[in-house]
Amino acid sequence: MSREEFVDPEDVELLEKRCRGYRFGNRSPLFTICESEPRVVTTYQNFDSLLTPQDHVSRRTSDTYYVNSDHCLRAHTSAHQHTLMQSGLDAFLVIGDVYRRDEVDRTHYPCFHQIEGVRLYSRDELLGKKSDGENVADLFAAKPDTERLPEKQETHSLDATKASEIQLKQFLESLCDELFGKEAEKRWVDAYFPFTHPSYELEVFYNGQWLEVLGCGIMEQKLLESAGVTDKIGWAFGIGLERIAMVLYGIPDIRLFWSKDTGFLSQFVGKSPTDEVKYKQISAHPQVIFDLSFFLPTTSVQFNDMTSDVYDTIRNVGGELVEQVKLTDEFENKKKGKKSQTYRIVYRSHEKALTKEEKYGEKGKM
Ligand code: PHE
Repeated sequence: MSREEFVDPEDVELLEKRCRGYRFGNRSPLFTICESEPRVVTTYQNFDSLLTPQDHVSRRTSDTYYVNSDHCLRAHTSAHQHTLMQSGLDAFLVIGDVYRRDEVDRTHYPCFHQIEGVRLYSRDELLGKKSDGENVADLFAAKPDTERLPEKQETHSLDATKASEIQLKQFLESLCDELFGKEAEKRWVDAYFPFTHPSYELEVFYNGQWLEVLGCGIMEQKLLESAGVTDKIGWAFGIGLERIAMVLYGIPDIRLFWSKDTGFLSQFVGKSPTDEVKYKQISAHPQVIFDLSFFLPTTSVQFNDMTSDVYDTIRNVGGELVEQVKLTDEFENKKKGKKSQTYRIVYRSHEKALTKEEKYGEKGKM
């Protein structure tokens, strides 16, 4: 059955609504970005389609969150590979939250985020054509004696595998350069995943240690075939996003990503991915919020002229305890010719929880 026969036009329309495209630079290939795939998937999508053995630990109820006997919360974004290939995509990125039952500590949390990448190549795209129109090598070696070797699958020729691997490694190395800088040392380590062969992990030397950045490999041909792709070879990779962000921004604990503490969040507001951001440790003691409103002296010129003076005064009086100050409201009473402003002051001590007096001042002092 050809892949086209699998594709329902309505599915394609739905898919186009869900996904948008992304080009690296202004060049091909165009990766379709899929960031609203449903987080509840079938056990077929999460395990079987990816050739996960029946007795694999990841299938246990102690590892995966089951919704019922044949649905679960996706444990990885790889769960969407099959469906997206089946709907006709050859190059896509899936971004989403994934769920694993896990003990909670500094580096583990039951929910985190991944980005998945898949790229399929036709034989001509990958190997080009000889001038006489003959292919350089067969994608599927299809010789009776071909066998699975550490470096290739039984259905692939070594040429096709190597050519895909070069594409995969170049692509991921340049991604790594973007993230950690060209000067950071990288190394490829052999790995195992049920759905890729050969499989690799990419590690980068950053902040004095080797960090595992991603898992990847040449996709198992069986997986492509079951999605209706019979004439292509492909690679896939998966990256855990929190781990990378923790290293890049110096965030010491994965649980901080779930913090509503503005002392944490305000450090990232309005920042772009290319900005240098280094997280500054927030205190374990609670914030104290204090809103301060007052009329401006009638002689004051403009609202904005006052603001930085007020910021300075608040910081001078409050000293170290003032974590953030923000102008939150302005009001003008035209009849009376009076203007007022409200500032939100967030206090926090690094040493202790603040007392009532320290919060509100002894005699109404800030
Ligand atoms: N899904 C794998 C994981 O979560 C990562 C991966 C994706 C590996 C794609 C290979 C190919 O660990």
